[in-house]
Amino acid sequence: MSKISGFFECVSCEHRVVQWTGVCSACGEWNTLLKGPIERKQKLKVSTITELSKSKKAVVYDTGDSELNRVLGSGLTRGSLTLLSGEPGVGKSTLILKVLNDLIAKNQNLKVLYISGEESLEQLSQRAGRLKITTKKIHLLNTSSWHEVLDAQRDGKYEVVLIDSIQTLRDNEISSPQGSPAQVKGITNELLEKFKSKNITTIIIGHKTKDGSVAGPKLLEHMVDTVLNFTLGSDQVRSLRATKNRFGATHEVAQYEMGKEGLTRPRETYYQDQVKVNEVGMSRFLTRKLGKNNLITLQVIAIENKYGAGKRVAQGLDIVRLNLLLAIIEKSLKLPISNYDIYFKSSWSEKLDEHEADAAIVAAILASVYEKVLPGNIYFSGELSLGGNIKSTKSNEEITQYESTFIHSNVKNINELKEFIKDKVS
Ligand code: TYD
Ligand code: MG
Repeated sequence: MSKISGFFECVSCEHRVVQWTGVCSACGEWNTLLKGPIERKQKLKVSTITELSKSKKAVVYDTGDSELNRVLGSGLTRGSLTLLSGEPGVGKSTLILKVLNDLIAKNQNLKVLYISGEESLEQLSQRAGRLKITTKKIHLLNTSSWHEVLDAQRDGKYEVVLIDSIQTLRDNEISSPQGSPAQVKGITNELLEKFKSKNITTIIIGHKTKDGSVAGPKLLEHMVDTVLNFTLGSDQVRSLRATKNRFGATHEVAQYEMGKEGLTRPRETYYQDQVKVNEVGMSRFLTRKLGKNNLITLQVIAIENKYGAGKRVAQGLDIVRLNLLLAIIEKSLKLPISNYDIYFKSSWSEKLDEHEADAAIVAAILASVYEKVLPGNIYFSGELSLGGNIKSTKSNEEITQYESTFIHSNVKNINELKEFIKDKVS
């Protein structure tokens, strides 16, 4: 039997083969086979065991951008490793430079390092000028050498480190070219070991190409805590969404528009269903779900039932909640609603679980009872108390943002709501 004198090992998945190939047959990565055995860095030591009740509460930094905070969970968690990916030109560097500026403003004395392998210091300061960046506290390092990065952070000086981008860095201990899977993965592994384990908050920017030919985002998703995807829509609105999040939900979206002075919030980011509000028993509600305002239509058919004990049928609404609102109507308005069959439907594909929708649901019920067609440019919002009072949590700012297009019905209780509806055309 012939003796195998050597082998090649994949830096990505540790698969071993006798014959070198360009692509690893186990994980499908290119240029990851190196002459084995590959010396691997020691695995992290097992952390000290702590009682759950004694473990420290995570520190969360306010990024100064409420939309971004919401996408991240409640802010940027200290010691987290975040990957921001998106196609070139979408605005990743612009977004992060502003975030770093605001992070310092909100969290005094935070030491921040911006590593740019992509742009020169002149280009960076030009961008900072456009964004009216005021802080002088962001330290810039223009390098593509991973070892220079390690040098800059040797004494753990910086608490927040940004890498723009991971594809531009090169670790000369890894023989594969810059941007290759082996480099990208190897450097991220070191970030986990040398930065994350020391509670350094790290953000990695990763370019994504339409055909996915450049290594990066996909390769790193399982290694990081949070993956933020920045995409450009056909309407030029940029959407930031967390596709993985160890600190919060993944369905939240923040939207931005690129202007002369960086990214701003688009003025009208609402989705409007295409329902024409021209039938009896229709009302509108503005739901803030999926990261934006959605103007949706509710409709009710209320049919008097001669035999009493009306039937209740609801699509997209909890029947217990419908019964509760009907009881408030009956008691506060002295309307014998239990003698009506009630059929409820909403244009929203999800369950209507916001208490804020109470007023709009009651408006649709009353509009059907009194056979009224409500104007399509009025939306109702507010939670009903059992005594019939309506409390809206919609801020004035939120209301005025839409006022030019939609009028918020500002009724204070169910009696005012009834008068408002009875006043409308039949
Ligand atoms: P950039 O943040 O460089 O994108 P990425 O880092 O994702 O590659 O910016 C994208 C584009 O936005 C770039 O073409 C320049 C433009 N831009 C503006 O229109 N206004 C601005 O204020 C800034 C800073 C950039
Ligand atoms: Mg960039």
